Amino acid sequence: MCGIIGYIGLKKATPILINGLLRLEYRGYDSAGLSTIEPGGLSIMKDKGRVKNLYKLDGIDDLVGTIGIAHTRWATHGKPSKENSHPHLDNSNHFAVVHNGIIENYNELKDFLIDNGYTFYSQTDTEVIPNLIHYYYSKDSKNDSQRVLRAVQSACKSLKGSYAIQIISTYLPDNIIVAKKDSPLVIGKGTEENYISSDIPAILSFTNEFYFLDDFEIALIERNNIEFFDLNLSKIDKKVKNIDWNAGSADKNGYEDFMLKEIFEQPISVRETVGSRLTENENCCFDELNFNKEFLLNINKIYIVACGTAMHAGLSGKNAIEKLCKIPVTVDIASEFRYRDPIVDKNTLCIFISQSGETADTIAALKLSKSKNATTLAISNVVGSSITREADYSLYTHAGPEIAVASTKAYTSQVVLLELLAIYFAEILESYSFKELNNIKNEILALPSKIEATLKCSDDIKNFAKQIYQEKDVFFLGRGIDYNTALEGSLKLKEISYIHSEAYAAGELKHGPIALIENGITVVSVITDEQLVEKTISNIQEVITRGAHTLVITNKNLPTNNIDKVILIPDTYTLLSPILSIIPLQLLAYYISKEKGLDVDKPRNLAKSVTVE
Ligand code: M6R
Repeated sequence: MCGIIGYIGLKKATPILINGLLRLEYRGYDSAGLSTIEPGGLSIMKDKGRVKNLYKLDGIDDLVGTIGIAHTRWATHGKPSKENSHPHLDNSNHFAVVHNGIIENYNELKDFLIDNGYTFYSQTDTEVIPNLIHYYYSKDSKNDSQRVLRAVQSACKSLKGSYAIQIISTYLPDNIIVAKKDSPLVIGKGTEENYISSDIPAILSFTNEFYFLDDFEIALIERNNIEFFDLNLSKIDKKVKNIDWNAGSADKNGYEDFMLKEIFEQPISVRETVGSRLTENENCCFDELNFNKEFLLNINKIYIVACGTAMHAGLSGKNAIEKLCKIPVTVDIASEFRYRDPIVDKNTLCIFISQSGETADTIAALKLSKSKNATTLAISNVVGSSITREADYSLYTHAGPEIAVASTKAYTSQVVLLELLAIYFAEILESYSFKELNNIKNEILALPSKIEATLKCSDDIKNFAKQIYQEKDVFFLGRGIDYNTALEGSLKLKEISYIHSEAYAAGELKHGPIALIENGITVVSVITDEQLVEKTISNIQEVITRGAHTLVITNKNLPTNNIDKVILIPDTYTLLSPILSIIPLQLLAYYISKEKGLDVDKPRNLAKSVTVE
C-alpha cells in the first residue's frame, strides 16, 4: 500500500525523504514523489516507477528545503502516472498533500470544488484534499497562526473514508501538519528534528521514540515541538513510546533478500516470542492478561479473525484451543466476518491477529466485535499499532520487524503465541492433563533448536525448486493440522513465484480436485500427525498413480519408495508441528521465486500491509 515519509529539521530534506521512501519500498507501490518548502515556494518532484528514478528528475539536486513530505503510491483511483502521483498541490500552489487511504466521498467533494471554481489535473481521490484545505483557508477571515490548522480541521471533517495525510504550506513554512483516520501514521521524535512515516522500520535508524497518531487526531509538527489536537482543535496530551527494535533488524545483514533473512531468523523470533511467558516447571504466564477461571468459564465461543497468513496461524490456534480448553473456536477471514453479522455477544472472546496491526479489514472486524460487547484481544508484531490501541487486551509477538511482503517469521511467532495462549487458558480452566501440558511446554522450549535443524533442508529444497520452477500449477495436501500448513505453503508459493497453487484437505481429493492431477504435475504433501499418516499416504499414492511429481514434508518414517523427494524434519508434538513443517515450504517458495528471477521481497501487486479495503 502507499507509504508516507516526512522530515522537518536542520538537514536537507530531499535525501532523507528518498532514503525513507526506499525503506518503504517493501510495502508495494507504482509511483513516488516528494515536496519540500523551498525559498521560492513548494517544490514538487514525482513520477511513476521506482523511487530511485526521483534522483534523475530535473532540479532535484537543487532542492535545499529542510522540511518536506514524500510518498509512494499504490494506485487505487487512476492509473500509475506522473499526474496521479503524490504530492498533490491545490490550485494556488500553496498547499501540498500526500495521502494514504481512500476518500469515499471524493466525487461529491470534487463537484463541490468544481462549482467553486477549482480545476482538477489528476484522476485521484487525493487531489480534493489540498483544494479543500485551500477552500477553507480562503473562507477564513481570521488571519492568525492557527488559520492553516483550522483549514485542515475543516477539510478533515468533510472527508469520508480513510486517510493518513501530511500537509506542507507556504503559509506555514516552519511546520508539517499530519492527520489520520483508519490509516497508520507514526511520528519519530528526534533532537532538533522530527520524522513522519507510515511505519516504524522506515525511520528506525533515526530514532526509537515514537508518537502514534490516533483516528481523528491532528499534529502540528515543528522542528523541536509537536502539538496534538482532536478534530475540535482541543489539545491532546500524547505520550511518546520507546520501541526497542534496533535499526540493524530492518537491514538485510548480508542476506540476499529480507525474506531469506527472516526465514533464517525464526529460531530467534520464536525464542523471543516465547520469552518469559514460559519457564520450566512454571505455569504459562501472560502479564498482559488478567483472565481468571470464572471469566474463561463464561466464554461460550472464541472467534479468531485475521487475513492471509495471520488467518492461517489462527487455524492452528483453533486446533490448540479446542483440544486443550474444549472451547469452540471459529476462524474467520476479517473481510468476511465484518459483513456477516456474526453471532458475537458479551460472552464471546474475539482474537484478532495482524503482524502489522494496521490491516483495514481486521481493524474493522475488531470494531464490530467491540460494538457487540465481545471481549477483544489483539495479537500483533508492532508495538502501538492500531489493533493494539483498539483492543481490550494486546499481546505482542516479538519477531522483530518483518520487511518482506511474504510473511514468514511473523507466522511462526503467531502460531507459537497461540499455543502458549491455549496452554495458559487450559491451566486456568484445568481442562487438560497437567502432565501432557508440561510435555507440550517442554517441546515449545525445544522449538528454536528444532527450527535450526529444520533449516538444514535448505539445499535439498533449493534442488527441488530447480526441478519444478517452470511449473504452471502446484497442489498442496494435508490433513488435520497439516492442512493449515498446506494452505500457508500454497499462499507463499502464489505470492512470490506467481505459480498457480491450491491447497486441499487430502480427504477432499476424491471429491473433485483429483480430476486435475495428470502426468508431471507437482503435489506437495505435509504429514506430521501420527494418526493420519496412513490416510494421507493413500492420497499420495493416488496422485502418484496419476503421474504426479511428489514432495513430502514429514517427521515420520514413511515408506518412501515411489515418492520423488522426502524432507525429514524433527519430530515434535502434533500441535506444534506447523512451526517446523512450514519452513521447507517457505524455502520452496523462496527458491522457486529466485530461480524465476523475480523480486522476492516485493512481489507484484502486493503490499506488506493492506491498509485499505
Ligand atoms: O499485517 P497482517 O498480518 O494483518 O497482514 C495480513 C495479510 O495481509 C498478510 O498475512 C499477507 O497474506 C501476507 N502477504 C502473507 O505472506
